[in-house]
Amino acid sequence: EKAGYKHFMAKEIAEQPVVIADALKHYTTAEGTLRLPEGVDFTGVDRITMVACGTASYACHVAKYWFEQIAGLPAEIDVASEFRYREPPLSPASWALFVSQSGETADTLAALRYANGKVARVVSVVNVPTSSIARESDLALPILAGVEIGVASTKAFTCQLTVLALLALKAAHDRGRIDDVALAAHLDALRNLPGLMNHALSLSTPIAAIADDLAKAQDILFLGRGAMYPLALEGALKLKEISYIHAEGYASGELKHGPIALIDAAVPVIVMAPRDGLFDKTVSNMQEVMARHGKVLLISDAHGVAEAGAGAWKTLTLPDMPPVFAPILYAIPAQLLAYHTAIAKGTDVDQPRNLAKSVTVE
Ligand code: F6R
Repeated sequence: EKAGYKHFMAKEIAEQPVVIADALKHYTTAEGTLRLPEGVDFTGVDRITMVACGTASYACHVAKYWFEQIAGLPAEIDVASEFRYREPPLSPASWALFVSQSGETADTLAALRYANGKVARVVSVVNVPTSSIARESDLALPILAGVEIGVASTKAFTCQLTVLALLALKAAHDRGRIDDVALAAHLDALRNLPGLMNHALSLSTPIAAIADDLAKAQDILFLGRGAMYPLALEGALKLKEISYIHAEGYASGELKHGPIALIDAAVPVIVMAPRDGLFDKTVSNMQEVMARHGKVLLISDAHGVAEAGAGAWKTLTLPDMPPVFAPILYAIPAQLLAYHTAIAKGTDVDQPRNLAKSVTVE
């Protein structure tokens, strides 16, 4: 049941430090090595194609940055409904990877069946190990999030990201991009996540205060660069599906190619920017928004907020962490903003209109 929480979504958001720790414990050793099934070997793999729907597709989108940047492995992503009818040519030396919480999403299953026989290995990252997608894969990796009941996916998303991060690290190690020492350091960074997530969860009260204002908006933009771009997409999806406020996520650099025309004093712009190598570029986009009187909420670490928070409408300070895995941490404020905005609007958080938890028809 809801274990004292008002909604399943609140409970599932709060569970993330525990389930992430469980997943890490399952797939890594205390000595700082990976413990993935034997079939997870990227030797000779020339490409990874990741396919999913909705939130799970944004997890793939983050993982694309990881596979490319950490492992140097070409990575492609697509939403299942496009992939299955696009019928893309697939390399016989590639892997096709399907990500699904339910493991029953019709389009994702059809995409998997298309890839079957055309690639070296069909791999899935699922929450339900007995699901159709898990059963029809050569290899299924459970994300160990536990049952997710809220229609808006929360803990499944961060558990998907965690398992995908481990796969990217395995690929990097298999391909000689990182040695044992670097691998252990990355795993250490991941192991710190549950503690940092607890800190992020403690921001629920200030986030609720910000959400009271967001609830009055008609349109909200989310901006991010690099692996934070998919987080901007995810933040916008979460907000629109449960609060019914129109929201869009954009790559910060795309702002001046159109969406900046939307900016005025009534449009909140949520900027997700840990202090990484792209921080200055995102900040300059943010300043363009402020120059047009947009209401900026900057989500960054203490250093980032100190450096760039002046002139922002609001700021939220997350703990420091290696920027590479920051998308997992920044999912929490994105979820909490959506949750509290929906509460402020009085919508049905766990069962939003028109949506089903498992989309078994196309
Ligand atoms: C959004 C959400 C959906 C699902 C999508 C895929 O919060 O939950 O976008 O992520 O329907 O579902 P699964 O992961 O079950 O394939």
